[in-house]
Amino acid sequence: MTVHERPDDAADAGPPALRLPFDVAELDRRPIRTERLRLRPLATADADDVWEYQSLPEVLRYIPWPERDRDQAREHTETRAACRRLADDGDAVFLAMALVGEPSTTDAAPGRTRGDRVVGDIMLRLASSAHARLEVGWVVHPDFHGRGLAAEAAAATLDLAFGRLVAHRVVAHLDARNAASARLCERLGMRREATLVEEEWNDGEWQDTASYGVLRREWRALRAGRA
Ligand SMILES: CC(C)(COP(=O)(O)OP(=O)(O)OC[C@H]1O[C@@H](n2cnc3c(N)ncnc32)[C@H](O)[C@@H]1OP(=O)(O)O)[C@@H](O)C(=O)NCCC(=O)NCCS
Repeated sequence: MTVHERPDDAADAGPPALRLPFDVAELDRRPIRTERLRLRPLATADADDVWEYQSLPEVLRYIPWPERDRDQAREHTETRAACRRLADDGDAVFLAMALVGEPSTTDAAPGRTRGDRVVGDIMLRLASSAHARLEVGWVVHPDFHGRGLAAEAAAATLDLAFGRLVAHRVVAHLDARNAASARLCERLGMRREATLVEEEWNDGEWQDTASYGVLRREWRALRAGRA
């Protein structure tokens, strides 16, 4: 069977058809449920949980976030929580990875139970509407690393990107030294397409950037166990 014989594959060969705008209010109403997580829009009320990982140097190592104090970090979470729509190139939305049954570090209001703890978050960015390209990024609290949580959240986010949004291609760009993130891309079935040599000046030296990508038809084949 050739690559374009399935009806969906043939549609993929057609022009870009991103379904925009995308408003995360959809996910307030109906969060994405995975085996262990609820993926829903990041909220200002998540600032304490986010601080638990955002304040750690090992988390910041490969993320383009400066060190922030607690107030600055709260503002940063507020700013990201206010990003709720994909409409124009450069727009991003942020999904909280709420671990079901893990109590939040945030104090609950009297008489209310604490929510599920936000142990990480996922970014979905509109890289190019003309070319139906989205970019993903991720972060998980180190206490929860190595449990497959990033893979679980990222797979659901790729389903969203290729399904609801009809992206043609999803990419991830990472510091080439970031072995965990590279391995995550590979586990998801993303292809390492380029190493951009000395693309950024970080930590007092020029660093390479690794670029990963996956196409909609490839993701569908992976999900169907065809790849
Ligand atoms: C990258 C990151 C999100 C992965 O989160 P995670 O929940 O630990 O990832 P998972 O448990 O889903 O593991 C995914 C794959 O990566 C592998 N992996 C995880 N940590 C790793 C490490 N330190 N070195 C090598 N591989 C690693 C896992 O073994 C798994 O591969 P496998 O299925 O072949 O075993 C996490 O390490 C992180 O938040 N890092 C700091 C922030 C960051 O750098 N973000 C990325 C910026 S581009």
